[in-house]
Amino acid sequence: MHVEIKSYLLRLISSPAAICHSRFALVCVYSTMSALVPLVESLVPFLDRYLPSGVNGDRPFVTLTYAASLDSRIAAVKGQQTVISHGETKTMTHYLRSKHDGILVGVGTVVADDPGLNCRYKGGLSPRPIIVDPTFRCNLSGESRVIKTAVAQQGLGPWVLTTKGASLRHPDKVSIIEQSGGRVIEMEVTGNLIPWHTVFSCLRENSIKSVMVEGGAAIINSLLDSTKTESLVDSVIVTIGPVFLGHNGVEVSPSSRVDLKEVTWWQGTRDSVVAAKI
Ligand SMILES: NC(=O)c1ccc[n+]([C@@H]2O[C@H](COP(=O)([O-])OP(=O)(O)OC[C@H]3O[C@@H](n4cnc5c(N)ncnc54)[C@H](OP(=O)(O)O)[C@@H]3O)[C@@H](O)[C@H]2O)c1
Repeated sequence: MHVEIKSYLLRLISSPAAICHSRFALVCVYSTMSALVPLVESLVPFLDRYLPSGVNGDRPFVTLTYAASLDSRIAAVKGQQTVISHGETKTMTHYLRSKHDGILVGVGTVVADDPGLNCRYKGGLSPRPIIVDPTFRCNLSGESRVIKTAVAQQGLGPWVLTTKGASLRHPDKVSIIEQSGGRVIEMEVTGNLIPWHTVFSCLRENSIKSVMVEGGAAIINSLLDSTKTESLVDSVIVTIGPVFLGHNGVEVSPSSRVDLKEVTWWQGTRDSVVAAKI
């Protein structure tokens, strides 16, 4: 039995108050840590034309992908990880990870979800975790999943993209990242945000030919907004789960309309997936 599940069960036995929540919590623990269901075969041809192929010039091929509710929320509350995907589409996400050199998230997602950012699709290679963190506020420690996963050689050490000088005050964090095989990459920029073309040029210079951007909302909204002036995103693959998450949810909604091209839908047991070019 997985060590974390074992310690969770021990805690339950010693805490009667926790038992009333145990069934729900246990389902959550298993749904985030258990083996993936097999990939539904029809997803392979469905996804194929939206996946990276060949070299994409001076920036990587960029796929924007996330799971959203019917009201376009990707989490029920800010800073809270929310299960939206069915097992089938969760496996699809890991399959997609195996098709990209890098997986990019914002620091808000790292702080909220403590994600592992590896690939658990059988036989697939893990992408490089890339964390966009302009002020170097990520809370990475030896206990963070992305670090533990890399140290256990079940994934790669994260690259943290930040602004010049931001990491100076946190030598311990830098050392934890480096010991896991990761790097802190500082960028010369004006202002607090790192322009997307700077992020992607840097990744391409570092041999990342394809990136899957998984979230969170600020990152997705900012990238969708950038597509009005620059061609930075190639594909969009969005899972839609049959749930409304409500007003307090974290919303994906760019500042104005973005039209998609070459749109195809896939229908699973419970979720739908829309894939498109942009
Ligand atoms: N359902 C899904 O598929 C899915 C996937 C991933 C995440 N999520 C959810 O999304 C939520 C987190 O979303 P979020 O919006 O709070 O955080 P986020 O998008 O992960 O990260 C936001 C942070 O990234 C930095 N940032 C944003 N735009 C930037 C830009 N253009 N250039 C440079 N840095 C930029 C900013 O950091 P500073 O504030 O330090 O400047 C910003 O606060 C969590 O609840 C998580 O569970 C859901």
